Amino acid sequence: MDKIIIKGGKSLKGSVRVSGAKNSALPLICATLLTSGAHRLKNVPSLKDIDTVEKLLTSLGAVIVRDGHLFEVDANNINCFEAPYDVVRTMRASVLVLGPLLARYGRAKVSLPGGCAIGARPINLHIKGLEALGAEIELEQGYLNARAKKLRGARIHLDVPTVGGTENLLMAATLAKGETILENAACEPEITDLAYALIGMGARIEGAGTDTIHIQGVDELYPLEFSVMPDRIEAGTFMVAAAMNRGDIRISGAVSEHLDALIAKLREAGVEIKEEDDVLRVKGPRKVESVNIKTRPFPGFPTDMQAQFMALMTMGRGTSVITENVFENRFMHVCEMQRMGANITIDGNTAIVQGVKRLKGAPVMATDLRASASLVLCGLAAENTTEVKRVYHLDRGYENLEEKFRQLGADICRVQE
Ligand code: EPZ
Repeated sequence: MDKIIIKGGKSLKGSVRVSGAKNSALPLICATLLTSGAHRLKNVPSLKDIDTVEKLLTSLGAVIVRDGHLFEVDANNINCFEAPYDVVRTMRASVLVLGPLLARYGRAKVSLPGGCAIGARPINLHIKGLEALGAEIELEQGYLNARAKKLRGARIHLDVPTVGGTENLLMAATLAKGETILENAACEPEITDLAYALIGMGARIEGAGTDTIHIQGVDELYPLEFSVMPDRIEAGTFMVAAAMNRGDIRISGAVSEHLDALIAKLREAGVEIKEEDDVLRVKGPRKVESVNIKTRPFPGFPTDMQAQFMALMTMGRGTSVITENVFENRFMHVCEMQRMGANITIDGNTAIVQGVKRLKGAPVMATDLRASASLVLCGLAAENTTEVKRVYHLDRGYENLEEKFRQLGADICRVQE
């Protein structure tokens, strides 16, 4: 297992380009199952989760060729319809093969994902929506056995605006007979990216990016030719890094509209953020102001930035109240930050963060993807040396993160444990 060693306190300077978005690339790759032909996906980040979905689709019979950030899929000969437990438990986004397989082949056997560090994360709404489209789904020995002669359009109201649920149902509805209406749908930019790609494949979709999406089913789709949007969470992570170190960095490739809630809160905290063409200029303040955040589905403050923002608030000038409204257990990073001298008290889904003058370097352990990113941010700002262990969590969602930070002047390296 690798660990990352950071000598903190260096102010970050210079430019960095964000990679393609993991949470857009994953559903887009699953969407290639919807039709045969040669699919070409560009700007796909090189991440562990992308390796996992490549293995999964290959096991279903797809032929995949990767060259850097180019990801080509030939889904002509899909001859297996099973997403096994040992794959799904390592990456829950594997359940996104359910909708496409059902829509195109009328069958799928997908393991229930099981628990996750940040919460139970059930997929009951995916199942409920697919059944509304006419699928018959039985649970057998931890697997969902799904069948459908032909999916037919339906009006589906989602109890919560689930991102994955919206994506699964959006993909399934493209080939269903008739119209599907998704109400209380997720509005995340990754949904809009997927919808644009599906429309490019010949799907008829209106309203993506709003809470009501209309899909008119078509008989068949054409191969995908698309470029993945930039990763807004990676961009946000770099913005917080600059804010913590009185840094002055330029982030290229980010889409500021995807980050409005975060930018508003960073500005409240005293961070200077300017848009210069497709570059975001971020300058950290001499003193960070403490601000409160509540995570919400898009366009609210993103839950995937909660841990990173908490890292910033550990050095705020006052008290910050951070409320996590999306997942029930997404404070795993708190006890690790406390080891570095952070003053944080948890009360249910709320964390009270009293700013301290400076964090102190220490050995810490990552528990999930965004928690590991927040610990790297703490290490970059802390005095002395921080060791972040179990960085395989980081490798799931950040491409060459330590290399990018090194280019910005950080004293950071990766070593084998
Ligand atoms: C996606 O997960 C992202 N993952 C997550 O990013 C992100 O945190 C999350 O959306 C919220 O924005 C990918 O896109 C691959 P949800 P997803 O379904 O789709 C409940 C990261 O760090 N729910 O919107 O699994 C669920 O329990 C990862 O990159 C149900 O109750 O999230 C949760 O409380 C972490 N029933 C809430 O909805 C369901 O059927 C949001 O989950 C589905 C979800």
